[in-house]
Amino acid sequence: MEIFTQQGLAFLARWAHFLAGITWIGILYYFNFVQVPAFAEMEAGARSEALRKITWRALWWFRWGAVLTVASGLTILGFNEQFDADYLSSVAGTSILTGSALGIIMFANVWGVIWPAQKIAIGSAVTVAGGGQADPRAGAAGRRGLVASRTNTLFSISLLFFMAFTSHLAGAAHFSADPESGRLVTWWVVFGVIAAAIELNALGVFGGLGPRINTRPLDSIRNVLISGFVLIAVLYGLFEVLFKA
Ligand code: HEM
Repeated sequence: MEIFTQQGLAFLARWAHFLAGITWIGILYYFNFVQVPAFAEMEAGARSEALRKITWRALWWFRWGAVLTVASGLTILGFNEQFDADYLSSVAGTSILTGSALGIIMFANVWGVIWPAQKIAIGSAVTVAGGGQADPRAGAAGRRGLVASRTNTLFSISLLFFMAFTSHLAGAAHFSADPESGRLVTWWVVFGVIAAAIELNALGVFGGLGPRINTRPLDSIRNVLISGFVLIAVLYGLFEVLFKA
């Protein structure tokens, strides 16, 4: 059967990647676009119940969706027969490594920041519902999780761009077939500095988690979306300048 050939298995990994990716990013968007603004309008009791009954379940699909997305993405790379130094230094390889780097940062935010923060917030809601005292760490944890979650929403715009760009435009005649190594180095340095700065900001390294000037791009959904589209405009602009044929 065609599906059990190497090409078929690579295709199955791609299919799993889409299923897992929509699960992860779909719930990320639900948290950011629906749940956070709705919770802000709810009374404490209703919010606590929703945290324990809805958010808790959503988080399970969210974090395991993230695991499967990364695992299936790495599997697709593993099936890629041209996955060698030549591929990685091509325009397509640069594009998929850029998207994957963003995915790995986002994955680290899910498991290293958002999930631990939510465990504190939800644990506190469970204790209060049982008649106990709120966890004093819950407020700060909620803010930490929110900032990381909005940063992931910001990154997701560029991530999906590079995922799709790899096979659907990177190979076009418009792009250099064999980019010079100096240009590749420039790409990785500039991209690395920008991505690291955004991520370190999400971790509160630049003056805390605000709200203050450094968290302004994350202070509302509108600002997150604007910042996300500005980021891809800057990255793609640089990509064109460096790699056009
Ligand atoms: C570390 C994380 C990730 C890795 C290693 C990864 C890896 C890959 C690879 C290798 C491809 C095939 C590229 C090609 O040759 O065309 C791909 C495609 C794709 N990925 Fe990811 N990915 C990651 C995260 C994500 C996330 C979070 C999403 C969100 C939904 C996503 C969505 C997609 C989509 C839509 C494609 C479609 C490419 C096409 O047009 O066929 N990926 N990814």
